[in-house]
Amino acid sequence: MKKLILSLILALSLSFSFAGEGMWLPLLLKALNEAEMQSMGMRMTAEDIYSVNQGSLKDAIVHFGGFCTGEIISRSGLVLTNHHCGYGAVQSHSTIENNLLKNGFWAMNKGEELPNPGLFVKFIVRIEDVTEEVLAGVNEDMTSRERQSAVDKNINGLEVEKVDYQDYMVRPFFNGNQYFLFVTETYSDVRLVGAPPESIGKFGADTDNWEWPRHTGDFSLFRIYASPDNTPAEYSADNVPYTPKHSLPISLDGVETGDFTLVFGFPGRTNQYLPSPAVKQIMDVVDPARINIRSKSLKVMDKYMRADEATRLKYAGRFASVANGWKKWIGETQGLEQTDALGKKNELETEFTSRILASDELQSMYGNLLPSFEELYANNTPYIKARIYYDETFNRGIQLFRIVRNLDRLKSTYVNNGEEAYANLAERYLSFFEDYFEDYETIIDREVCEVLLNHFYSNLDKKFLPESIIKEDAFMRDLRVKELTHQLFQDEVATIEGVRALLALDGKGFGEAIDKLYAIAFYRGVQDKLKSDISPSYDANTEGIRELQRIYMKALMEVFPERTFWPDANSTLRVTYGYAEGYEPRDAVTYQPVSFLDGVMQKYKPGDYEFDVHPKLIELYEQGDFGQYADRVTGKMPVCFLGSNHTSGGNSGSPAIDADGNLVGLNFDRVWEGTMSDIHYDRSICRNIMVDIRYVLFVLDKFGGAGYLVEEMELVHPKS
Ligand code: ARG
Ligand code: GLU
Repeated sequence: MKKLILSLILALSLSFSFAGEGMWLPLLLKALNEAEMQSMGMRMTAEDIYSVNQGSLKDAIVHFGGFCTGEIISRSGLVLTNHHCGYGAVQSHSTIENNLLKNGFWAMNKGEELPNPGLFVKFIVRIEDVTEEVLAGVNEDMTSRERQSAVDKNINGLEVEKVDYQDYMVRPFFNGNQYFLFVTETYSDVRLVGAPPESIGKFGADTDNWEWPRHTGDFSLFRIYASPDNTPAEYSADNVPYTPKHSLPISLDGVETGDFTLVFGFPGRTNQYLPSPAVKQIMDVVDPARINIRSKSLKVMDKYMRADEATRLKYAGRFASVANGWKKWIGETQGLEQTDALGKKNELETEFTSRILASDELQSMYGNLLPSFEELYANNTPYIKARIYYDETFNRGIQLFRIVRNLDRLKSTYVNNGEEAYANLAERYLSFFEDYFEDYETIIDREVCEVLLNHFYSNLDKKFLPESIIKEDAFMRDLRVKELTHQLFQDEVATIEGVRALLALDGKGFGEAIDKLYAIAFYRGVQDKLKSDISPSYDANTEGIRELQRIYMKALMEVFPERTFWPDANSTLRVTYGYAEGYEPRDAVTYQPVSFLDGVMQKYKPGDYEFDVHPKLIELYEQGDFGQYADRVTGKMPVCFLGSNHTSGGNSGSPAIDADGNLVGLNFDRVWEGTMSDIHYDRSICRNIMVDIRYVLFVLDKFGGAGYLVEEMELVHPKS
């Protein structure tokens, strides 16, 4: 009896789908979320958010370039996204004389908008549940390979209603227990309209990244162009601004604590239903390995960057991307610890086990799941660690190997496809390398190489080391690493001159020349070792884990019928909702949910690369000239705010929408303490960070002088 009551209490606590947690499929909102959303203050219906019959919020949301989210904010196809999402586009238009990243850019009319070959935005026209069709004929006796080929066959056989210029894709959900179809429209004439200078768009850079309080104006603006009939078209001077089915009205009234917020976008990947051994492995093995390796290379870069301004500029981008993951994982491990993620997983698994024990049928289907996970994760631990070491050292850490990898690929092109293919690729590589070496310093890479090889060597089990670096004792190891580093760099493959000379050769000469390079031989040795002694076991374990996870996901849904499940993120369109609210990161510390321009001035460090402030912004601040964008209560200029919306990488650039469907902010980050939300969401410390839309408009209008753009937008005052 006692057990039953416990069960019931647990069941009740689990059935409550907490406000905040979850990345929901737009087409299921009506069934699963509408009531809760409305009880939290939303004044829209599910149909206002997602409808196939009429324009709805979803028609204003785009997958931006496949890696971020954007939203339509005018009837003429204006798209808002983050500065760090538009970064590549802005960079591609920058020259030394005209550095748009540094100075910012504002097109003063449509004629000045800049095309971006390769950039696209994707709309979701319609979503359908196709589980039944995709899983037709699939059964549990099939091997995972048989299952996959049956699924692929069914997907290929789908008859999808769509017009010519539309595409579709089918994606697995709940680890392959459900399948949804997405009909899409992709527009590839996307022009840059505006971006603030980095001192606003990237204010605080890596020091503030993943942190609150935040003061970054992380936005940029684009415009979609279409053929005269409004359908997708390649870039053409004859294209016209796209007319959307819906564009977001913009609220100038802001949010305050307790206001409902919704974030709509394309989160990349979460792992909310992992079993406890997986979470333990992340905390004990995966994150620490990655963090340690990156700490080492960051330390070297930082040393050189601080010593010299030119170096600082060259390495800023690389440093930012290495630091982004590094800092997130540190927060993730701490957050998992702080919220006792493991304890909570164990609790759930204990309940799972006791529920299946109560039924012979469940027991026979699912009784061995948890022990099998335990075993497979344990088996995989040495391999996953080795994989991370190889990846972080040779793919992401030492830049020399990036160069070498490309050269080796070029040789394969010659061998497989002949001289012409070689010549074409060599030309492309040459222009890539001319760029690459602009921001490269051999001295830094050499030092990173020495430090990382040493770490690799000291921490990885000997059986996973490539022949070329095996040596016994520590003294010999240090010497050996120095010697290796010397040999690796001796052929000058890590210089533009060296690469130019190689690429000037014909295919045959090139192949012979690189075969003589020590760095190439070493790199091949590394690859061979990975292929022969690590990948086979790693792949087999991972495949087994994937299969178990599919069954476990199905089991969770059956064993906890009272609970509402949301599918892990998979780069498809999702809705997440919560409140505008602050949090308490640790004892006696409370974070307010809104930051103001005053905070920018408090952080101001003249000349500093992260915290410099543009003179014009200082002037506007001192004049208190915020126009219609000032906060209506305080009169101050809001900059960023926090919410309990469950977001992830890929949600960058997603709109933050108020209870009535108006745009109030632009998502761009999460707080450090809460980055474990990819694995374990906890309402107490998981927060997303958004730029206040009023700051975006203020910068655009008062700072950038592009106020004419505001005229295209629909500004509203829902609170007055
Ligand atoms: N943390 C944000 C995200 O994950 C912003 C990253 C870009 N900014 C940076 N300083 N690296 O994408
Ligand atoms: N900055 C992230 C992105 O580029 C969003 C932050 C997050 O991971 O939540 O998508």
